[in-house]
Amino acid sequence: MERLQKVMAAAGVASRRAAEEMILEGKVKVNNVIVRQPGFPVADDDTIIVDGNILKKETKVYYIMNKPKGYLSTTSDDLQRRTVVDLIPGKERIFPIGRLDYDTTGVLLLTNDGDFMNALIHPRFKVEKEYHVKVTGLLRKEDSSRIGKGMNLGDFISQPAKVFDVRYDDTKTNSYAKVIISEGKYHQIKRMFEMVGHPVIKLTRARFGNMTCEGLKQGEFRRLKPHEIKQLWNLSCFGRQGE
Ligand code: URA
Repeated sequence: MERLQKVMAAAGVASRRAAEEMILEGKVKVNNVIVRQPGFPVADDDTIIVDGNILKKETKVYYIMNKPKGYLSTTSDDLQRRTVVDLIPGKERIFPIGRLDYDTTGVLLLTNDGDFMNALIHPRFKVEKEYHVKVTGLLRKEDSSRIGKGMNLGDFISQPAKVFDVRYDDTKTNSYAKVIISEGKYHQIKRMFEMVGHPVIKLTRARFGNMTCEGLKQGEFRRLKPHEIKQLWNLSCFGRQGE
C-alpha cells in the first residue's frame, strides 16, 4: 500500500504538496469514491481518478549499470554535464542509488522506487561494496593494515576495511588492490588511500552486495531480475529489522 499523494506524485501529476491540495479539494477518486484524506492508502490495483482522468501509475523499474567514466551520478547538472540517467532511455524518472564519482566506473543501481532507494542508502544498510583501485607508488603491508584497521579521516573514523590482492605494475611505479568496505562516505576510498600517501589513479566498484557488472560493458545497463530485487530488499535495513 502507498499513500495516495505519493502515487500521484510518482505518476507525475503534481508535487506531493499539490497532490494533497487536490485531494482536500475533492478532485481525487479512488475506485470511484471521492477521497478527501491525504495519506489514504492505495493498492496497486486501485483505480485512481484525478480531475476526471484515470491516473496512469508509474511502474517501478530497477536497473544495474556499469557506470562509465565522465558521467555524474545525479539526475541533472547545472553545468550540463552528462549524467548516468541520460544513458537509460525511458519515461520513468529514475535516480541513482548512492553516488559514484565522475571518474569512477562500475556497479551502480538505479530505480524510481523511492522506498527501495532509501532502504539501500540508509546508514543501517551495511552491505559490502568491493572496489578495485590503482594507486600511485608501492602500497606496503603497513599501508594496507592502516586502512584495514579503520582510520581517522577528519570528519569521521572509517570502519575496518579489507585490503587484499595487492600487486605492483611491471615498472614498480603504481599498485593495484582490492578493498571491501561496508560504508559509503563521500570520496571514502580516495580519502583512505590519500591518507596513507597513495592517491587513487583509477577506481572501479566491482560489487555492491551480491551484484556485479558481469556481462555489462561500461555504459551498458540491464533491468534487475525479480529475485535480485528481492535479495537486495532482504539485505536492506528493512530486511534486517529483526537483527
Ligand atoms: N569512494 C570514492 O572515493 N569514490 C567513489 O566513487 C566511491 C567510493
